[in-house]
Amino acid sequence: MAVLDIVKYGNPILRKACKPVSDFSALPRIVADMFDTMYEAEGIGLAANQVGLDMNLCIIDVTHTEEADEPLTFVNGKIVDSWGESIHSEGCLSIPEVELEVKRPEFIRFRFQTPDGEEHVEEFGGLLARAIQHEMDHLNGIMIIDRVSPLIKMQYNKQLKEIAKNASRHVKERKPQGNFAL
Ligand code: CO
Repeated sequence: MAVLDIVKYGNPILRKACKPVSDFSALPRIVADMFDTMYEAEGIGLAANQVGLDMNLCIIDVTHTEEADEPLTFVNGKIVDSWGESIHSEGCLSIPEVELEVKRPEFIRFRFQTPDGEEHVEEFGGLLARAIQHEMDHLNGIMIIDRVSPLIKMQYNKQLKEIAKNASRHVKERKPQGNFAL
């Protein structure tokens, strides 16, 4: 069990398209640490590169809603279709104290694997669809600040610069193998 440092805006790993996971053996430990980290930060979703890991892996917990009755882990996710439109405010653990109205498709068809390697294609809507899109954006190097107009983004320039200034002192990229999180 370990609470990891969360990578903040300005760290280059948040701009990476993350690598597919091929070795699933390290996942149980990594996923457990990611859940500890997300709950500590009071988030509902977390992508692997937010804890410095270059892997297509994310976790989501929306059990406070009717949409899921257990925390979810998605490996090698890919949104294969989307439709509809909704606007909702989103925060991000990597951009503290910034909340933005983000327009996204309302429904998605999502292909992913579970940590045991099982393949799924499922349709999602509501908060879950939004959370998955937010995390899949992370895993493709995209952040909420990229999903708003340049005018809105400009209003946050100073705050973003401040976050980025502190970010460089923090987390370096981790390696999933070896003595990860020991
Ligand atoms: Co985020």
